[in-house]
Amino acid sequence: MRITVVGTGYVGLVTGCCFADLGNVVTCVDVNRKKVQELQKGIIPIYEPGLEEIIKRNRGQRLFFTTDLSKAVQTSDFIFIAVNTPPGKNGEVDITNVKAVAKGIAQHLNGYKIIINKSTVPIGMGDIVSQIVQKYGPSNVSFDVVSNPEFLREGSAVADLLRPERVVIGASRRSAAQKVAEIYKPLQCPIVITDLKSAEMIKYASNAFLATKISFINEISNLCDQVGADVQQVVKGMSYDSRIGGQFLNAGLGFGGSCFPKDVSGLVQIGKNNKFKFRLLPEVLEINSDQRQYFLKKVYREVGSLKGKTLAVWGLAFKPNTDDMREAPSLTIIPALTAKGAKVNVYDPVAMPRAKSMFKKVKFCKNPYEAAKNADAVLILTEWNEFIQVDFQKLKKIVRKSVIIDGRNIYDPIEIAEKGFVYLGMGRGASRIF
Ligand code: UDX
Ligand code: UDX
Repeated sequence: MRITVVGTGYVGLVTGCCFADLGNVVTCVDVNRKKVQELQKGIIPIYEPGLEEIIKRNRGQRLFFTTDLSKAVQTSDFIFIAVNTPPGKNGEVDITNVKAVAKGIAQHLNGYKIIINKSTVPIGMGDIVSQIVQKYGPSNVSFDVVSNPEFLREGSAVADLLRPERVVIGASRRSAAQKVAEIYKPLQCPIVITDLKSAEMIKYASNAFLATKISFINEISNLCDQVGADVQQVVKGMSYDSRIGGQFLNAGLGFGGSCFPKDVSGLVQIGKNNKFKFRLLPEVLEINSDQRQYFLKKVYREVGSLKGKTLAVWGLAFKPNTDDMREAPSLTIIPALTAKGAKVNVYDPVAMPRAKSMFKKVKFCKNPYEAAKNADAVLILTEWNEFIQVDFQKLKKIVRKSVIIDGRNIYDPIEIAEKGFVYLGMGRGASRIF
């Protein structure tokens, strides 16, 4: 199949490259000339496991990069819109980019095409895209607009695309949805075909539900701290109930990234625009931002005054296996520490080049041990594997005080205590079983 993907961000790039790997001829379009030139040379702007190999395999044969929307539209049958939809001032979804791309596509239409929205857009956007294409496109050319939301997690986006648990396709004409379904046929996964608005809602409802799970478990976790229970054991006990499941119940610093915060705020705003007041979701957001403060309070309580103290921060990215810093807890936590007079040494396996301009007065270190030198406490903000495998004996010799404050619960409290560290996790109460 001949496919164009507009937008080579996290979502568009992974989507385009994986479609090419499935044997389709794919053109990826972006307005960012520098990004396109680099991609043409095989330089990838983001860190995403598995992506480099796919680009290597397909570039120049089935996978092309360009800034020329006109040619890309004219030579494809399917045009995916995967540009960013950032949050506006009040949390509303900014659809300027999607509208601009829809207009651009319309102006170059030269025959029947299926235009597919992959960007996360407010419910009803499919109809708006149709109206734009109708207005700016040639009157004698027909088209369909389809919604095909993405469920790609950064860090495992390639696997999520190639082995999806489901694909959702919304359209007003079943024939158009079925044509898009053909692209996903080799993946042999359930394909849910719905009307346009339901598909758009599925995306928001899914992300808002997952975010709700995280805020729920964070509240349970904070109560665990109070009563002396261990949230990890609590989750284990809950997870065997198939009605609950065990995923997305890791307590910690709360959710970040480009999607959950934006999509939950976006859905609240979509509610407001449709005379519906969400009661649950604003709380989900508030619990989430309070979680960062809750962690800071643990630090202040354990370390005391931060003036003149040295703190090691392990992990900057909003989650492991990505260099994405959007809405990362580190962006709130580190400035709060430096404002109180702490000397902060940071280390992240991949996010440091991206993070360099985001923090003032911190020292970027080559490895976790360099960051921990003379530290009064080691703070864990991202659960990279590298930190799980750390050499505790070596660490103990380097730090000033053997204190680990773990915002991601990567260690077993008892094992760490046996190694001679004071260990504070999130919701890892004091009770033990003998
Ligand atoms: C995506 C989705 O599209 C968004 O709706 C979803 O909720 C999260 O994931 P993402 O891939 O993360 O966004 O966006 P980003 O990494 O910011 O990349 C967007 C790309 O689109 C950029 O490379 C930008 O240059 C490009 N773009 C933007 C265009 O090519 N044309 C435009 O008009 C605007
Ligand atoms: C999310 C969606 O999962 C994906 O389907 C798509 O819609 C894009 O947005 P992403 O933001 O890349 O993916 O990462 P995800 O793995 O969902 O994690 C989001 C945030 O939640 C991270 O900050 C992570 O640390 C946090 N999280 C996740 C928890 O705090 N606890 C958990 O149990 C799971």
